[in-house]
Amino acid sequence: MTNTVSYKVIDGIAIISIDNPPVNVMDLQTRTLLIEAVNEFNADPGAAAAVLLCAGRTFISGADISEFDQLPFRDPWLPEVVQTIEDAGKPIVAAIHGAALGGGLEVAMGCHFRCAAGDARLGMPEVTLGLLPGASGTQRLPRLIGVRRALDMMLTGKPVTARDALEYGLIDCIIDEDLQQGAIGFARRILEHQQAGKRLSRVEMSSSDAGPGVFSEYRRWIEKNAAGFFAPEKIIQCVEAAVELPYHEALEVEAELFLQCLDSDHSRAQRYLFFAERETARVADVPKETPCRDINTVAIIGGGTMGCGIAMNFLQANIPVTMLEVDRSGLDKAMQTIRRNYADRVSKGRLDQARMDRCLELLQGSTEYDDISDADLVIEAVFENMSVKKQVFTRLDRVCKPGAILATNTSTLDINVIAGFTNRPGDVIGLHFFAPANVMPLLEIVRAGETAKDVIATAFKLAKTIRKIGVLVGVCFGFVGNRMFMPYVREAEYMMLEGIAAERIDRVACDWGMAMGPHAVTDLSGQDVFFKINDEWQQKPVDPAYFRICRVLYEQGRYGQKTGAGKYLYEGRKAIADPEVAELARVEAGKLGIQQRQISDDEILKRMLYAMINEGALILEEGIALRPGDIDVIFANGYGLPRYRGGPMFHADLVGPARVYEDICKFRQRYGDRYWTPAPLLQQLAEEGSTFLEWSGQRS
Ligand code: 3HC
Ligand code: NAI
Repeated sequence: MTNTVSYKVIDGIAIISIDNPPVNVMDLQTRTLLIEAVNEFNADPGAAAAVLLCAGRTFISGADISEFDQLPFRDPWLPEVVQTIEDAGKPIVAAIHGAALGGGLEVAMGCHFRCAAGDARLGMPEVTLGLLPGASGTQRLPRLIGVRRALDMMLTGKPVTARDALEYGLIDCIIDEDLQQGAIGFARRILEHQQAGKRLSRVEMSSSDAGPGVFSEYRRWIEKNAAGFFAPEKIIQCVEAAVELPYHEALEVEAELFLQCLDSDHSRAQRYLFFAERETARVADVPKETPCRDINTVAIIGGGTMGCGIAMNFLQANIPVTMLEVDRSGLDKAMQTIRRNYADRVSKGRLDQARMDRCLELLQGSTEYDDISDADLVIEAVFENMSVKKQVFTRLDRVCKPGAILATNTSTLDINVIAGFTNRPGDVIGLHFFAPANVMPLLEIVRAGETAKDVIATAFKLAKTIRKIGVLVGVCFGFVGNRMFMPYVREAEYMMLEGIAAERIDRVACDWGMAMGPHAVTDLSGQDVFFKINDEWQQKPVDPAYFRICRVLYEQGRYGQKTGAGKYLYEGRKAIADPEVAELARVEAGKLGIQQRQISDDEILKRMLYAMINEGALILEEGIALRPGDIDVIFANGYGLPRYRGGPMFHADLVGPARVYEDICKFRQRYGDRYWTPAPLLQQLAEEGSTFLEWSGQRS
C-alpha cells in the first residue's frame, strides 16, 4: 500500500499533500496519515505555516462511502482529524481544486484559511446519500457562512462555485495562478500580517444567529421539496443545536443524528444508488478501453414530443443537430417547439439569453434525407409504428455515411426487426430517452442482437456528454422500464375493476413515495398512448380484463390531461376524482364477472410493487438487465421512484425475497397463474434465503 499523505517543507512553508486516487476520499489510511502529518508540522520548527492540498483531479471528495457499511468507524474517525487540524499551533491553509465535498469541505473548514482555484466547487452532498455532514460540518458551516446559507447548502446538497464561496466567506481567496505557488504566497502573506485565521469550533453562536422563523421556513421548504426523506429534518435539528448549545454538546447531537441517518433504510438505499449509478457502465464484454466513434454531428428524425427534447440535449452539449421532419409545416412546428422551450427556460431564469442563442445557432432543419448523409449519429423518433420505422430505416441505410450510428427511440418495438431493415445491423442501437427528454436523466441503451461493441461504448460516452445515466438493456417488449411498468399499471387498473377508486390507489402509491400515482401518470402520458402501445403489442395477455379501463376510456375519447378527462377530471392540471369512472369500472367488472371487494392499503401497494418485482426477476434471469442495481437506477431516474426506496429490486431485498415470494403465491391462489406465477429466480432466492444483490454479486 502506498502512502496517501506526504509532508515536505518549501522555504519555511510545509506542504501536506494527499494523493489517494481517483478522488481523494478520506479512508482510514488517509485519516491516520493526515493526523501524523499535522503532528509532524506542529513539531517542525522549520515550518511556520502549512498548505494542505491534493494531487490528481480533485481536492478531498469526502468520507469513503464504502466504509459506511462497516460500523463502528475505525479510529481516527473524521471529526477527530478535523479537530486535530484546527488545533494545530500554526496556521494551515487549505488549497482547493476540483471538488471539496462533504468530509472534504469539513477538513477544509478545520483549516484556518481556505483558497481555491477558480473552477473549484464546494459542497455538502451528504443529504443525497441520506446523511448529514457528520464531521462537524453542521456546526462549522453555519459559523462560517451563516445559518441560512449553510442550510441551503446542506439541504439541497448542491455545490457552490468558487466565486459564490468567496462571496459567502466560505473561502478567503481565489487563486488564478498555479494553486500550490499561490497558496504558498497566501500563507506567507498571512504570516507577514500575523493573521490568526478562524478556529471555527471556538466561534460562539446564539439563537439570534438564526433569525426569527428560519427553522420553520426551512421545514416548509422540506415539505415542498424533500417530503418523505429522513435526513433533511435531522440537518435542521443539528443547526438548531448549533445555535442553542455550546459547540461540544451540539457536536454530540450531530454525532447521534448522523448515526441515526446512517442506520436508516433511506440512507442505505441512497448509498446503494450512488454506487449502482456508477456501475451501470461496467459491461463485461465492452471494457472501458473499447474505442469509441466520434460524434460531432447529430440528426434527429421526427420533431414531435421526443425528437425536440432529444435535440436539446445535444445542442446544450454544443453538438450541432439537424432536425428532419416529413414536411415544411412539421418542421416549422418542431423548430418553434424547441425555440419556445428555450425561451421558457430563459424567462424562468434557468438559462441565459446568450446560451439560448448559441444553442439555436447549432440547430438546422430539413425535410431532405440528403442533408443528413454526413451525420455521425442519427436518432429516429417518429411514430411508434413498425411500418413507419421501416420506411425511415430503409432510407437511412441508403443515405447515411458508413460508420454512422443509427439509433431508434422506440419505447416498445423490436429493435432486431428495425436493424433488419438495414444492411448494417451492427450500427443500429436503441437510445431510449424518457419524457421530457431534455430533463429526465435516464437513457436506456438498448443492445440488439448484432449491435457492435464500439457502438455500445460510444452510447455510454455520449450519455455522459449529455449528462444522462446510461443503462444497458436487452431487446424485449418495453425493454426494462416499460416492461416492468406495465404490470404495475395492470394491477392498478385491475384493482379499479375490483371496486377501488383510482384516487385511493394513487394515494397509496404516493404515500409510499412515488412522485405520482399510476392513474395520474397514465392520464399524463395519455390513455391513447397506453391503448396504442398495447394494441401494437403482439404477445399481450389474452385477457379481456387487461387494460380494460384504459380501452374504454380511449373509446370514449377520455385520453387524460390533454382532453380534460381520463381516469380523473381536470381543471387545468388539477386532477379531480370522477365518480363516473368508478361507475364505469363497476359496470365493466360486471361484464367480466369480477367481484368487487375490500382491499387493504397494504395489499394495494404489494399488488403494484410485487407485480413489478416479479417481472424484474424474469428480466434478470433473461439477461435483459445486467444487474438488479441497473433496474433500480432505471426506476429512480426515469419513473419517479423515491431515491430513499432504492428501487423495486432493492425493496424486494429489504422485505426479503422469501416474503415477497410468499405473498405472490397468495395472489396466485386468488387470481390464478396468468400474472402471478412466481419468477423461478424469485423462488430460488426464497428457497435459498438469499437476495437479488447476493445473487448478482453486486456491491450493496
Ligand atoms: N467514497 C467512496 N468512493 C467514492 C466516493 C466516496 N466519497 N466518491 C467517489 N467515489 C468513487 C466512485 O464510486 C468511483 O468508483 P469506480 O471508479 O470504482 O466506479 C470513483 O470514485 C470515481 O467517481 P466518479 O465516477 O463519481 O468520478 P467523477 O470524476 O465523475 O466525480 C466526484 C467526482 C464529483 C467527486 C464524485 O465522485 C462525487 O460526487 N463523489 C461523492 C461525493 C460525496 O458524496 N461526498 C460526501 C461523502 S459522505 C461524507 O463525506 C460524510 C461526512 O460528512 C462524514
Ligand atoms: P410524436 O407523435 O409526438 O412525434 C412524432 C413525430 O414524427 C411527428 O412530429 C411526425 O411528424 C414525425 N414523423 C412521422 N413520420 C416521419 C417520417 N417518416 N420522417 C420524419 N418525421 C416523421 O411522437 P413521440 O411521442 O415524440 O414519440 C416518438 C417515438 O419516441 C416513438 O417511437 C415513441 O414510442 C417513443 N417514445 C415516446 C415517449 C413519450 O413519452 N412520448 C417516451 C419514450 C419514447
